[in-house]
Amino acid sequence: MQNNIFSGLFVGQNLLTLKEVDSTNNFLKTLLSNSKPVPEGTVIMAESQFAGRGQQNNQWHAEPGKNLTFSVLLKPSFLSISAQFDLTRAISLSVYDALCPLLGDGLKIKWPNDIYYGDKKLGGMLIENILQGSQIKSAIVGIGINVNQDNFPPDAGKATSIKQILHKDYQLRDILAEICNNIEAHYLSLKAGKLNLVRETYLNRLYWYNQQKRFRANGTEFEGTISGVKDNGLLVVSHNNTESTFNLKEIEFLNH
Ligand code: BTN
Repeated sequence: MQNNIFSGLFVGQNLLTLKEVDSTNNFLKTLLSNSKPVPEGTVIMAESQFAGRGQQNNQWHAEPGKNLTFSVLLKPSFLSISAQFDLTRAISLSVYDALCPLLGDGLKIKWPNDIYYGDKKLGGMLIENILQGSQIKSAIVGIGINVNQDNFPPDAGKATSIKQILHKDYQLRDILAEICNNIEAHYLSLKAGKLNLVRETYLNRLYWYNQQKRFRANGTEFEGTISGVKDNGLLVVSHNNTESTFNLKEIEFLNH
């Protein structure tokens, strides 16, 4: 009997591993535009991406063979466009829950969807939704986690890896399976309408939540406290007894 570490019903059951690709998100998008249907839960994993894409049109660099770079196909037609951020929340929680047994308390979700350990970035995600009318027809959920990379170039800023934290190598497939199993669980919670649970848990895992910290917005530095995240994903920061909301381009977290 095959020992299947993907214990869910659909996420990861159809797994395609590529040696090299431009971007697993691009690959999955092209696959979807071909006529053959692609089953929900299909995972495309690459040993190496030569044009990995990150948030805000940034590139995503990962040393070949050492890190997790993969994309999952979901078909959340039960979610309206206005609930897109709930999918981001559910996927962030899935990565968090998969890594928490290894890394413990230092792990956080940095709004909107970065995976942080301490003050450093361990991974991130790029979720690309394909819309049909007012529904989300498909979601290409691209995830990058730094696993066994020893060093990062100086321009990688705040990057870290599981290896830098725990000084051990990990099997990429084992971590992939944990993330996939958790994606399935949180995705099914969303599908069952447990939005409040997903929203509350996300908030409780948030980096800098309810702490007085420094930010920059509109060219001005200020002290404020993250007091919430709107249903649509905007960050709520309180300062001087007023609450302001921000999108990703409008606010910077200052670590000094
Ligand atoms: C970010 O934090 O900027 C998001 C990074 C997302 C990277 C992953 S790696 C797998 C998938 N394919 C891509 O081209 N990007 C995502």
